[in-house]
Amino acid sequence: MEILQAIKERRTIHSFSKRRVPKEIIERSIDAANQAPCHRMTYPWRFTSIGRKKRELILQLQLKIKFDDKPIDQKKIDITKAKLLNPSHLLIASQLSTNNQDQKREDYAACACAIQNLSLSLVEDGVGSKWSTGKITTDMRTYEIAEISPSEEEIIGFIWVGYGDIPSPINRPTINSTLRERN
Ligand SMILES: Cc1cc2nc3c(=O)[nH]c(=O)nc-3n(C[C@H](O)[C@H](O)[C@H](O)COP(=O)(O)O)c2cc1C
Repeated sequence: MEILQAIKERRTIHSFSKRRVPKEIIERSIDAANQAPCHRMTYPWRFTSIGRKKRELILQLQLKIKFDDKPIDQKKIDITKAKLLNPSHLLIASQLSTNNQDQKREDYAACACAIQNLSLSLVEDGVGSKWSTGKITTDMRTYEIAEISPSEEEIIGFIWVGYGDIPSPINRPTINSTLRERN
């Protein structure tokens, strides 16, 4: 696939089927992530693939965070369940920590490049993804479940991977709105 075609086809998938993604496709996407540019070659991105048992724990935590133990109807539980359990893979993206603020900023940029490479590689294999953030991605219990040390790494998002419905087209910025010329 042409790179520009993959860039234009990539979309955030919100609704995933339960179809599994082969391991080779996941590994190819990680290899693509590892080709991202990175100042000072710190390679600060890590992807933690969360297995089924731990996915259940993440689901329970999400229900707790979202509904705070209030009584909820089954429909809402089912929607959250499908959201968290349907995608074939949950990769927790984290960034290696540093005390150097300049490096931290550049490391985050490198991580974002790595995640984009990963998503584009998946597109080439006909697989969708979604980068999500929110309370669950910063909650200390998530670090515990994923066995990620908060003193060594910061979770920067959940990357949901799988097959799903491609959302409707959205308006993108025009070239004129983002490109300026100064002569
Ligand atoms: C850092 C980051 C965090 C995001 N977090 C969420 C999220 O929590 N929930 C969500 O639905 N989408 C999230 N997204 C996806 C964006 O909403 C999505 O990219 C945007 O709607 C444009 O759609 P597209 O990816 O299909 O172009 C996130 C994207 C980025 C880059």
